Amino acid sequence: MYYEIDLDKIDTNAEPPTEEPARQYYFMAKCREWVREFEQTHGRVPTACVTTFGCQMNARDSEKLRGILKEMGYKEEVEDRADFVIYNTCTVRENANTRVYGRLGQLKPRKKKYPHMMIGLCGCMMQEPEVVEKLKQSYRFVDIIFGTHNIYKFAELVATRFVSERMVIDIWKGTDKIVENLPNERKYEFKSGVNIMFGCNNFCSYCIVPYVRGQERSRAPEAIIKEIERLAADGVSEVMLLGQNVNSYGKTLDTPMTFAGLLKEIEKIEGIRRIRFMTSHPKDLSDELIEVMRDSKKICKHLHLPVQSGSTKILARMNRRYTKERYLNLVEKIRGAVPDISLTTDIIVGFPGETEEDFEETLDIVRKVRYDSAFTFIYSKRTGTPAAAMEDQIPEEVVKNRFDRLLKEVQTIAAKSCAVHEGTVQEVLVENICDHDPEMVTGRLSNNLLVHFQGESGLIGKYVDVKLKECRGFYYIGQLSV
Ligand code: 5AD
Ligand code: SF4
Repeated sequence: MYYEIDLDKIDTNAEPPTEEPARQYYFMAKCREWVREFEQTHGRVPTACVTTFGCQMNARDSEKLRGILKEMGYKEEVEDRADFVIYNTCTVRENANTRVYGRLGQLKPRKKKYPHMMIGLCGCMMQEPEVVEKLKQSYRFVDIIFGTHNIYKFAELVATRFVSERMVIDIWKGTDKIVENLPNERKYEFKSGVNIMFGCNNFCSYCIVPYVRGQERSRAPEAIIKEIERLAADGVSEVMLLGQNVNSYGKTLDTPMTFAGLLKEIEKIEGIRRIRFMTSHPKDLSDELIEVMRDSKKICKHLHLPVQSGSTKILARMNRRYTKERYLNLVEKIRGAVPDISLTTDIIVGFPGETEEDFEETLDIVRKVRYDSAFTFIYSKRTGTPAAAMEDQIPEEVVKNRFDRLLKEVQTIAAKSCAVHEGTVQEVLVENICDHDPEMVTGRLSNNLLVHFQGESGLIGKYVDVKLKECRGFYYIGQLSV
């Protein structure tokens, strides 16, 4: 559901409108004409595939791209056979970039064989000038390159490519513009991500996100509520509110509003049964938010609270603006208010200057908090960030050794923490047929853990009670409870 517009009624011979989103619908109509032409010459509709690298923000952006492609008339297809391949890239760690170059190399012969094929690149990696330079030099076969600030212009860029023989490049350094009411094609009918803010102002010293996603800006609460109401009317019952630092939502609005205040408004929306959000920065997590979480019937019992390191010294060098003690106090406060909450985190190993003692502090915080799961990362040097210029970068073999030790600790603790629900009956939202057994379905608990149990596809999108019979590390095997 979105802006109700009949593309066939748009006069594509007229000048394009200047205001958004009307301008983009005009270009979607233009592209639709081209798609019809393709259909006549090839006897089939052209196909497209959007491949997402990276985080949930990118996943949501990809849904927007898919929505626009669908409006144009493209059919979805697997990457290997698609006429139009789009990579929505990530650049948070160096290996994300390496993967994209590798995949592009594989596309080259296909593009040579099928010259009508199109390749588009967008997302965080494109916001780095060196990347675009390299693509211009060595990957001339790419058709369209755009960044994180102008994905709403996708239709216009595709239309431009159709009429020009050259690579179309459109990268913006930043924007305060948020274009509402564009199409999107959800992956799931019953749940959806919802952007509540864009960008990040925190400048953690290792992180490239503030440079590639720009200044923090919040969407107006009215626009968010309207979108969620529409989603609910369209059958969505679970929303995931997305932002790099949701706890500082609303600070930049003309009429400021807190994240807790926004949650209270979303709680009132009929049809929404589950509310999730990510990511929370510990320095901005307020008492007000903890109270709202305690009193809410809809906010899920899961909090992703990236700690990054357990050493106060390293946290200061990371510019995280909290200490180990403050983080632990926060965890205690949250658990006091919501006792059965599941806590997950992100941890970086091998940040410049990290000594064995600092690393022991990280192991210590993991043992103290007992996370239900943790994403562990090896520190990756990102050019342009303050940490990249720091002395005492840690040798690879030391980092690898620490990483393995951390992973073992995290996994042992997580398996035990997750198992505490064994034997209980819990409400799950059924998401899909189990990947490994077609006789089973997979559902998600409020605390974000998955459970596989005997069931058929008719259950997908429904809430059912499931007995958690056996914990297998990070998921459960259960049985439908009647
Ligand atoms: N190296 C390693 N991990 C990083 N992250 C962000 N930047 C880097 C980097 N340069 C991790 C952080 C963040 C998660 C999304 O990615 O842990 O929370
Ligand atoms: Fe990066 Fe820190 Fe912003 Fe998260 S809060 S996106 S880690 S700068």
